[in-house]
Amino acid sequence: MSERDPSTLRSSRWFAPDDQRSFGHRSRLKQMGFDTEDFKAKPVIGILNTWSDMNNCHTHFRDRAEEVKRGVWQQGGFPVEIPVMSLSESFMKPTSMYYRNLLALEVEETMRCYPLDGVVLMGGCDKTVPALIMGATSANLPSIFFPAGPMLKGCWRGETLGSGTDMWKYWAERQAGNLCEDGWNELEDGIARSPGHCMTMGTASTMTAIAEVLGLCLPGSTSIPAVHSTHARMASACGRRIVDLAWDKVIPRDLLTEDAFHNAIVTDMALGGSTNAIIHLIAMAGRAGIKLTLEQFDEISQQLSVIANIRPCGEYVMEDFYDAGGILALLSQIKSQLKLDALTVSGKTLGENLEGAEVFNDDVIRPLDKPVSNAGGTFVLRGNLAPDGAVIKPTAAEPKLLAHEGPAVVFKDYADLKERIHDESMGLTAVHIIVLQNAGPIGAPGIPEWGMLPIPNYLLKQGVRDMLRLSDARMSGTSYGACVLHIAPESAIGGPLAAVRDGDIIEVNVEKRILELKISDEELQTRLAEWTAPPRRHRRGYGQLYADEITQAPEGCDFRFMHAGDDVVEPDIF
Ligand code: FES
Repeated sequence: MSERDPSTLRSSRWFAPDDQRSFGHRSRLKQMGFDTEDFKAKPVIGILNTWSDMNNCHTHFRDRAEEVKRGVWQQGGFPVEIPVMSLSESFMKPTSMYYRNLLALEVEETMRCYPLDGVVLMGGCDKTVPALIMGATSANLPSIFFPAGPMLKGCWRGETLGSGTDMWKYWAERQAGNLCEDGWNELEDGIARSPGHCMTMGTASTMTAIAEVLGLCLPGSTSIPAVHSTHARMASACGRRIVDLAWDKVIPRDLLTEDAFHNAIVTDMALGGSTNAIIHLIAMAGRAGIKLTLEQFDEISQQLSVIANIRPCGEYVMEDFYDAGGILALLSQIKSQLKLDALTVSGKTLGENLEGAEVFNDDVIRPLDKPVSNAGGTFVLRGNLAPDGAVIKPTAAEPKLLAHEGPAVVFKDYADLKERIHDESMGLTAVHIIVLQNAGPIGAPGIPEWGMLPIPNYLLKQGVRDMLRLSDARMSGTSYGACVLHIAPESAIGGPLAAVRDGDIIEVNVEKRILELKISDEELQTRLAEWTAPPRRHRRGYGQLYADEITQAPEGCDFRFMHAGDDVVEPDIF
């Protein structure tokens, strides 16, 4: 049987038989204006499009979907565009993370129920990347990831603006009384000037780079700015490539091996990537039947330096990164740390994809002997306050705070924080450690990006720009500061964070990986025994499903039932 035998196509079950059901399928394609020549004996390629009027980062996706279709037609496939839920980082509340698993579930079931032989996963805005990959990995049909590409750099009064990062920076200046309303309004006009995802090394830039290193994207594609003509041509190239992948039955779990995840963690650390990548990588690996631990991230972080000089850890933005050679150039610098035999959707190994890659600006992509920081991007802390771990991005923090002891000031939830944090009578100083409880997967719910807790305005006016901040929340990849995140177990299920009280002394020592509440074990146990769970917010629908099934941050915040075995059950067609 030839590899290109149409009877081997999954879609042939829908279209080939001479029976009443298949007659129905074919006649309904004709109802849409397609002729037999359009679809007969061709791989059906689903273009899973996360376009939405509410997703600012994907505004070019209608055009790009047409360009993907062009490539599919060119290569002898039959393209069908299918909208799936769009996770807009900016607009979804309480947080797009709350819906990551819902999109993953939708993607998996969409791929399962339709006559698809392969899919193009169109994403970029933060959680769309892991969600699409998680769903496709569970469905395990041939897939290629089409990255949205970063938006162009922002500009204000001649200065480059970076997504998120410069908003936080200038908001602090505004709160300190250093920026007038006109200046603030001009920033609003200049910080997001084109389609595409955030152009700092936030979650989107980190996760798309990771998708490429995992082998799911065309080589170099994730660094191309969204509005470049190269990006449109890359869309057509994705369309052409997925047709071959569908014929050759290259499935995600062929690519998503332990070596591929090792490469992803190495790249994350060299990029100084978003802390969110840890949670997403654990969840994505889980869908491929691979268990990643926080220790693996910490171990690799100790062997690598951050060499991408991109905000928030560095100075530049993604447009500069692309011009400096992009992700392939960065990977060429850390080749010795990578498993170069890992396969990719290009049909070549990662090592082969890197042949000829070159750095064109070594201030943007630094050599290993001139890094942005001497250690990798994310460290893992443990101690009696985080028995299951917590993370910090030291490169984004004031160095003096990386070994610090101070009194806690505790907020029981975000509403409490918002109400009291700027109240001068609380008398906070830069030495205090701000603690937020009930902001984790169940507590918030959805483990939102609240972890860059606000610094009191009166301290901003005194010139304070960083403080130690602790929570079971996440923080945006575009954020910065001495923020200890993902504390597990979370406070809403009785983790030790729930036992912290005002005035308790907390020790954070990043080099020694310590996060300790300085009270006796006995006192800690007494407090936890007295603890009562906060009332549950959702008693029906998705909220109930989420609260019942969500795992903690070190397990990837995936739904428990999504890890129950790796069977791919094909639908019956009667
Ligand atoms: Fe979409 Fe930042 S808002 S990536």
